[in-house]
Amino acid sequence: MIGASVRVLGIETSCDETAASVVSRNGSGNPSILSSSVLSQISEHAAFGGVVPEIAARAHVEALDGIIEAALRDAETRLEDLDAIAVSTGPGLIGGLIVGLMTAKAMAAALAKPLLLINHLEGHALTGRLTDDLPFPYLLLLLSGGHTQLISVQGLGQYRRLGTTIDDAIGEAFDKTAKLLGLPYPGGPNVERAALSGDPTRFSFPQPLKGQDRLDFSFSGLKTAVRQTAGSLAPLSDQDVSDICASFQATAAAALTERTERALNRFLQTHPDLADPVLVAAGGVASNKLIRSELTACCERNGVRFVAPPLPLCTDNAAMIAWAGLERFEAGLIDAEAMDAAPRSRWPLDPDSDPLTGSGKRGAKA
Ligand code: KG4
Ligand code: ZN
Repeated sequence: MIGASVRVLGIETSCDETAASVVSRNGSGNPSILSSSVLSQISEHAAFGGVVPEIAARAHVEALDGIIEAALRDAETRLEDLDAIAVSTGPGLIGGLIVGLMTAKAMAAALAKPLLLINHLEGHALTGRLTDDLPFPYLLLLLSGGHTQLISVQGLGQYRRLGTTIDDAIGEAFDKTAKLLGLPYPGGPNVERAALSGDPTRFSFPQPLKGQDRLDFSFSGLKTAVRQTAGSLAPLSDQDVSDICASFQATAAAALTERTERALNRFLQTHPDLADPVLVAAGGVASNKLIRSELTACCERNGVRFVAPPLPLCTDNAAMIAWAGLERFEAGLIDAEAMDAAPRSRWPLDPDSDPLTGSGKRGAKA
């Protein structure tokens, strides 16, 4: 494809990362990330063991202008070079979303450029097209602090949610397990580290929804089992903590893989003629080595290619928002009422999906 190049600024403030990025597609059709600035607020929330919405909103107000300036500078892009502004408009914490949307509206109005309202989940869903040039359709497994979803990505703006969590998100389960064992926030990486010297067979925790013919997830029972075990052993030795972490991680990984394998089978049945079926994993928990290796093995068993975007694009960032905006801009999917829109704390990607708890929700991880 030969055409004019397109350049979009993306803004992301839906949780605890303040991020801005410039993404372009050149005249030959190749996408590139010209810049990606991400400021994590982890240190501001660590003392509370989770994201505190009011602290997050204030931190976004303080940081966003500087982050946008840095993204434009790194991309060697002037404001007038931009074709459009894309902003993460939900789901997420409402205070942060307001900061991002108001800033994007002000920029779009001052520059007389189109404003694109992006669903944060669509950003995750389309990242595989930015990094790996994936054609539609493919299956997405989103594993983050706020979401655990299996989504069939069928086309731009066409998403079918096959499964979601009915209670806690997987990242939340890791974070809560860490907190209850006295490990620092964010819990996931610390649980993984402690599990390295633990025995995954010492405790047999119940595998949530095991064997049920549904594609949803549940992690609150697992969290309760961890709490009861920790309580019965207190005071915990370092070895106890490691063994609980290893047993928890093994159960969580097995539950994720069982459900994903079921979803893959259903996806393959729905699309029997796909030459190169793909599973994309995204979200911070997708960096967990055990989960990654079990998902890789699951894909190999089923003749499916496993794609995991590089970590900075797997976790929250603005390049994915800019990219989703670029795809929508090129397709002419521009909302004429965007300047009047309000942010949406809940915004399921698949409007036809059942309104289960946890669907399209993204809130405090504590
Ligand atoms: O996608 P993400 O960066 O952000 C949001 O959810 O906004 O995911 C963060 C989540 C946290 O719950 C964190 O504990 C978890 O991902 N996480 C991990 C690992 N690294 C991050 N969980 C398990 N193992 C890891 N290595
Ligand atoms: Zn996210």
